[in-house]
Parts: sequence; structure tokens; C-alpha cells
Amino acid sequence: MSVAVVTGVAGGIGASLAGRLAAGGHTVVAVDLADGVHDVVERLSADGHAAIGVQADLTGSSGRSEVLGAAAAVGPIHVLVNNAGITRDARLVKMDEAQFGAVIAVNLGAVYALSVEAVDQMADGGSIVSISSRAYLGNFGQFNYSMSKGGVVGLTRALALELAPRIRVNAIAPGLIETPMALAIPEEIRNRMVEANPMKRMGAPNDIAEAVAWLADGDRSGYVTGHVLVVGGGRSLG
Ligand SMILES: NC(=O)c1ccc[n+]([C@@H]2O[C@H](COP(=O)([O-])OP(=O)(O)OC[C@H]3O[C@@H](n4cnc5c(N)ncnc54)[C@H](O)[C@@H]3O)[C@@H](O)[C@H]2O)c1
Repeated sequence: MSVAVVTGVAGGIGASLAGRLAAGGHTVVAVDLADGVHDVVERLSADGHAAIGVQADLTGSSGRSEVLGAAAAVGPIHVLVNNAGITRDARLVKMDEAQFGAVIAVNLGAVYALSVEAVDQMADGGSIVSISSRAYLGNFGQFNYSMSKGGVVGLTRALALELAPRIRVNAIAPGLIETPMALAIPEEIRNRMVEANPMKRMGAPNDIAEAVAWLADGDRSGYVTGHVLVVGGGRSLG
């Protein structure tokens, strides 16, 4: 049995990731702070997939222990997808410490902690995939978010060196993907972003899920580690 731990499954991208990895034959340990995690597990089970739900806050060590305990009950972890993330946007001059700290804690601190704590439970040939963002290159009004997602890039590259050859570590940097997080951006700004995109559309959650499925699969991407794959319709800066 191949086990995939996927965080942030109650969100747009996470639900798609969980569905794609379950369809690929993984038993999915589906994690989210929100109680929507249970709906996701119900849908996966109704489709005949094996899934376990854990409602937990990944910024706390007890939440992460619960996740790893649930995974241990089904077997070694083959795939860990660090997808849970938040935004607390503000221009630097208006950003308070709470907005800064919350984003760093979820988007970087929890990714670091869960990855490191999961290592001993991971199967040889396992794969860690973290969801960074094209914003790691720098986004106006997203100092905290850009910094957290840049941290994920550094973490990915450094951890890949430490864990090779046993475990591969990669990241995806999505562009604007059509989820509640993206739809929270004012429509006018969103339209401008779509207009500036060479592909002239937002990405779909499935665009990210297919990239993750490839990086998760050692038979197909076994020589790829420490890589940051931009899935952003050709837009890499601006
Ligand atoms: N949507 C986009 O355009 C876009 C672009 C680039 C990167 N991303 C990244 O992709 C990932 C998924 O984004 P999304 O658009 O699906 O967002 P979303 O807001 O729809 O989903 C994020 C999920 O993470 C969960 N979460 C937040 N804090 C948590 C915590 N402490 N513990 C456990 N779960 C927690 C939320 O409850 C939510 O269900 C995020 O890391 C995000 O930064 C999204």
C-alpha cells in the first residue's frame, strides 16, 4: 500500500491533489484545519478510494503528531504534499506582526516541521512535494507571503541535498490558480493578472495536481530532486 499525506485538502488545490493521488492508487491521509476535510474524505470514499481524514492545525506539534500517527496506522509514507497555506496581504508599511507571523508560521514553519518530522516514517524512494508560489519572486502587497514561499524554495533545495538519495524533495510554484484563495483577489486586479498571462487564463487546480502526481512518482521523475517547477502559464515575474 502506498500512503500519501496531503495537507490543505479542504481548499481548491488540495481537494484536487487528494483526488488525483487517490485515483493514482495512494491511500490518502487528508489533512486540514477546516472541517471541510471530512467532506473531502467522504467524496473520496464514495468514489471507492481509501482515505483517512485528520482535522488538525499544522502549526502546532500536537496537530502534526496526530497527522503522523494517522499515517503510521496505515503504513510508511511514500508521498508528502505540503499544500496548506494562507495569505494575509498588506503593504509593508501597514503589515502588522500578527499578519507577518501567521503567514510565516503556516506557509514555512509548518512545512519545515512536518517535512522533518515525517522523514523517519517515509519509505525509501519517497517524495516530498511542497506548494510554493510564483510569488516567491516577489509580489507587491505580499511581503510576508513572498517571503514564506521563497523560504519553501530554500528549504526544498537544502532538504533535497540532505535526504538524497533516499527521499526526493521538490516544489511547485503555481501561478494564479482558480480557487477561493485566488477569487478573494479583487476582480479588477484578477482580470489584469489574467490579461498579463501568456496563456490568458487562470490555472485549474488539476494543472497543479498533475504536476504533483508526476513529482510524486519515482518511476517517472526519479532523477528530479531539489527542483522548483513553475506551473504558471508562462508568467514568471511581474
Ligand atoms: N490559488 C492560487 O492562485 C495559488 C497560487 C500559488 C500558490 N498557491 C498555494 O497553493 C496552496 C493551496 O492554495 P489554495 O488556493 O487551494 O488555497 P485555499 O485557501 O483554498 O486552501 C488552503 C487550505 O489550507 C488550510 N490551512 C490553512 N492553515 C492551515 C493550518 N494551520 N493547518 C492545516 N490546514 C491549514 C485551509 O483551511 C485551506 O483549506 C497554498 O499553499 C497556496 O499558497 C495558491
